[in-house]
Amino acid sequence: MKSSDWFRDAVVYQLYLRSFYDSNGDGIGDLRGVIDKLEAITSLGVNTLWLSPFCASPNEDNGYDVSDYRSVAPELGTLADLEELLAKAHKKNLRVLMDFVVNHTSSQHPWFQDAKSSVNSRYRQWYYWSDGRPSDTHPHGGPPNNWDSYFGGSAWTQSEETGQWYLHHFLPSQPDLNWENPEVRQEMFSIARWWLEKGIDGFRLDAVHHLGKPLGLPDAPAHLKLKQFKNTRLTHAHLREFRKAVLEPWGAVAIGETGGTTPSTALLYTARQQELDAIFHFDQFFLPHPRAQDFLKNHERWYRKFSGQHAWDTAFFSNHDQGRHLSLWGDDRYLRRRSAQFFAAVLLTSWGTPFIYQGEELGLGNAGFKSPADFQDQASLRRYHEALEQGQDAELALAHLLMYGRDNARTPYSWSSAPQAGFTKGTAWLKPAYDYETINWERQQGDSDSVWEFYRKVIRLRQDNAALRHGKWVRWSHHPHIYAVQRGKGRNLVALVGNWSREFVTWNLPRSRGTQGNWVVLLSNYPASSSSVKAGKITLRPWEVYILTTV
Ligand code: BGC
Repeated sequence: MKSSDWFRDAVVYQLYLRSFYDSNGDGIGDLRGVIDKLEAITSLGVNTLWLSPFCASPNEDNGYDVSDYRSVAPELGTLADLEELLAKAHKKNLRVLMDFVVNHTSSQHPWFQDAKSSVNSRYRQWYYWSDGRPSDTHPHGGPPNNWDSYFGGSAWTQSEETGQWYLHHFLPSQPDLNWENPEVRQEMFSIARWWLEKGIDGFRLDAVHHLGKPLGLPDAPAHLKLKQFKNTRLTHAHLREFRKAVLEPWGAVAIGETGGTTPSTALLYTARQQELDAIFHFDQFFLPHPRAQDFLKNHERWYRKFSGQHAWDTAFFSNHDQGRHLSLWGDDRYLRRRSAQFFAAVLLTSWGTPFIYQGEELGLGNAGFKSPADFQDQASLRRYHEALEQGQDAELALAHLLMYGRDNARTPYSWSSAPQAGFTKGTAWLKPAYDYETINWERQQGDSDSVWEFYRKVIRLRQDNAALRHGKWVRWSHHPHIYAVQRGKGRNLVALVGNWSREFVTWNLPRSRGTQGNWVVLLSNYPASSSSVKAGKITLRPWEVYILTTV
């Protein structure tokens, strides 16, 4: 057994540091805040934390623009705070993953500052530089190729100092590192080891699908919607080297953000843990208005390809880069509690390691922002302004921002109904969610019907049931509203049957699998169950969900 196999039994809590808890009143969440709230995290039952980036950064992209990899950002605390957090977390059997921003640095990083100063800089080859390319629109030379940045505009910016262009897949203040340069790789490996020595248990590797650029940096094919190359062969070569040089000797875990993968291409990363322990793909966010069957089909597609290949997936519905799933897929108005609990049950019975994003365990939906002025996130605002410049209908562009803008998921944690959601004694860096007075952590403690309490129960169920973590995953339902799956088999069978709709639905449990109707309810989300599970038939109220086993 590889020593990183523990990850397959993990339930991860993704913690967005600047928005979790502010211990010193400066309006920004910090490491001491996490230490203060450690008990609240562990009482939920999760056993792993993913901390958003905590190294020094000018925060053009909230820490995803690192200016010193061997440091802790002063607004988040000190190295001693981090070491204390690691020690206290480990004492509570909580492992900690670091968000390692490997694809790019901040433009304020001393490497880039030096690199841009002259073509002869010692760090010039640590980044990508190229002369401009003349075209009809840029007769004096424009971007060297047609690649797009994720955050609007070209992936190239011209530097004043030398007139050459540098590559950035994200903001112009996030220049891409040149991983083909062995010096870069050695330095990044050495940084990773430095953090492992401090006690970090593994990494979430940011934007790893862009690590290896195609040789010669050719134009991307015209038919691609986003003109970019992802998941290249070179990326795999770099990650295999990382695995051998860093992960294997330390028994450390790495989960890679691999946008644009299909089940087959993702296998190259994770089969037999050759490169990564698991990947994040984003297929679920590309399903237009998903319903039970879209979701089931998608999950099945990945499961079929991965199982049997000793490959592993993650399961997650929200993170810091999307609108919240309750608003995108559920009912964040009338049946909020039930639909939040429904998704909790689906997530925690999924195949792959589940990731809970802070706040979803309270049933948080989108922030309730009303205008672009409520947003801080540069990426969302750039895309919004670009849509307007390209002539998109203003109302539509605004609706898109309000629904999908990343700050929807980054609001300060709703701890209580106190001012600023109990997150800070000062003024929070981002407006709290509009509904914090009613939806908050404090109100849900001791309420046996709360979303928080339901998450706690379903996490416990997963921890206690090997079938939910490792059992075979079988899709049960083809009914448009019913999300039903079987995990495990025989005496270890656990089933999930849920109603992904606002309607009442009666459904027959499959008989052909040796299930003669002797069902025991392990967990359900409505109090005082008036629905019935009798003679193999189940009647479900809107968003009702059952986790069952047989006797
Ligand atoms: C992170 C984003 C970040 C981007 C650039 C992503 O994939 O999750 O939050 O803006 O990488 O680092």
